[in-house]
Amino acid sequence: MSESPETALRRALEMIEPEMLRGVARTDGGYVELLPDVPAPNPSPASIAMNNPVVAAIYEKLWRPFGVSMMGIAGMSMSAERAKAVADLRLSGHQRVLDVACGPGNFTKFLSEALTGDGLAVGFDISEAMIARAVRDNRGPRAAYVRGDAAHLPYADATFDAVCCYAALYLVPKPMTMLDELIRVLRPGGRIAIMTSCEPRPAPLGSVVGFGTGLAGVRMFPKNQFTDIFARAGMTDMEQDIHGLAQFVSATKQ
Ligand SMILES: C[S@@+](CC[C@H](N)C(=O)[O-])C[C@H]1O[C@@H](n2cnc3c(N)ncnc32)[C@H](O)[C@@H]1O
Repeated sequence: MSESPETALRRALEMIEPEMLRGVARTDGGYVELLPDVPAPNPSPASIAMNNPVVAAIYEKLWRPFGVSMMGIAGMSMSAERAKAVADLRLSGHQRVLDVACGPGNFTKFLSEALTGDGLAVGFDISEAMIARAVRDNRGPRAAYVRGDAAHLPYADATFDAVCCYAALYLVPKPMTMLDELIRVLRPGGRIAIMTSCEPRPAPLGSVVGFGTGLAGVRMFPKNQFTDIFARAGMTDMEQDIHGLAQFVSATKQ
């Protein structure tokens, strides 16, 4: 059973495929470091922000609430979004949860608090600044952090009971590669929950928003893109909620 942040960290380390550790993993920063001496890439203004320690420090209290209000989901507080993630993932008990692109752990810690006994929430992110902040602000007896690239998750197939990915697929250069990885590491019967962008209608409005977000390095996804992918993957119990420019999609892997 995880009884301390140190135990949670050890358990998070043990979940990683041995060949992915390759003798390079470090834990001296309070998290599992799989990319020592490799800085996070900065392909866009949005990515540059995510790698900035000042943004990491204000992310949970200021940056994200502002970003969320820009996406038109101002009516939904962070606590409502967290409760939605727990409900959509159907979290409880001894489950093992992966929170991909966890930022400063603003969801990971909360997800971990829905678990008991051997339950564990692993926050996974590529930004050193974000992971350092997660360790500082959001460690827990069932919450631990790993720094790595979600385009190549270091886990065997079907490792996790639930996989969460909020506010990240629209930022990364290869979102479908990341999505494939999220589905791969989820066990059959497990739940996936994503929050990402949703193209507005009518089309002229979509073009204006798309131009602005494109400059910032944020991608807008069509409304049906993720539901279609999940359906083609044979997923069931699908739910989609659209709030402004954001969509929440969850489903069960078969
Ligand atoms: C906007 S934050 C989302 C944080 C949190 N999930 C939330 O909903 O507030 C996006 C995160 O994606 C991370 N990220 C971007 N590319 C990544 C990658 N290839 N692998 C892992 N994390 C990545 C960034 O470092 C950043 O912390």
